Amino acid sequence: MSIRIFIANWKMQLSPSESIKTARSFTRAFKNDNSQIIVCPDFLSLPAIAKEFKNTNLLLGAQDAAAYERGAYTGEVAASDLASLGVSYVLVGHSERRSYLQEDDKLLAAKIRMILDQKMVPVLCVGENAAERKQGRVSSVIRNQLKGALQNLSSHDLRSCLIAYEPVWAIGTGLNCESTKALQVKNIILEWCQRSGVKKMIVLYGGSVKPENASSFLVAGAFDGLLVGGASLRADTFKKIVRA
Ligand code: 13P
Repeated sequence: MSIRIFIANWKMQLSPSESIKTARSFTRAFKNDNSQIIVCPDFLSLPAIAKEFKNTNLLLGAQDAAAYERGAYTGEVAASDLASLGVSYVLVGHSERRSYLQEDDKLLAAKIRMILDQKMVPVLCVGENAAERKQGRVSSVIRNQLKGALQNLSSHDLRSCLIAYEPVWAIGTGLNCESTKALQVKNIILEWCQRSGVKKMIVLYGGSVKPENASSFLVAGAFDGLLVGGASLRADTFKKIVRA
């Protein structure tokens, strides 16, 4: 069985002191765990958590990165600085950023370029909203999001990305996507990647993942891992997901 990937996206839910406390409890909880666990805290907590995770098997992720090289970009955080802190994964195109900050495909493609140039792994989030699902537009929405953010990458670069299917209507609602329906979308993603020259792509599921539903996404042939929001804020709950 290939290794599973679990990403904890803490969003802006914790203060830096709460983040560091939670990171400490993660270090204790996952001391002997072989799964690949990536924690994405807020930017302010990254340096302290980088120290906390040193010499552990926990990896550091970021929730965003600038689309530009270092320069006059007020409020942005350079991918090169994230890389120097030891960040190895960066979320891109999370639906919250697409909707609240109007992040578009061109911007996401530029962010992905910066992240890859720093030898970090971009985790591109894709997913339809409730209206798009109702209108039967899931496959076209997903294909367009993939195309918009990834079409200019070489197959070598594409192979260095991860894709997370996060249906917007499932995020933070308690209503996870049924695993059979989520798998149909995983296949749409795989087909698109195959047509772009990449046979094997790591695809994660995210959206109201809980200890009770995690295993349905992880059975053989299903997803390669999970991207978890609310249920990743406590080490004990997240551990139940990782052990599912
Ligand atoms: P929830 O697990 O809280 O639904 O959030 C999912 C998510 O957005 C992870 O990136």
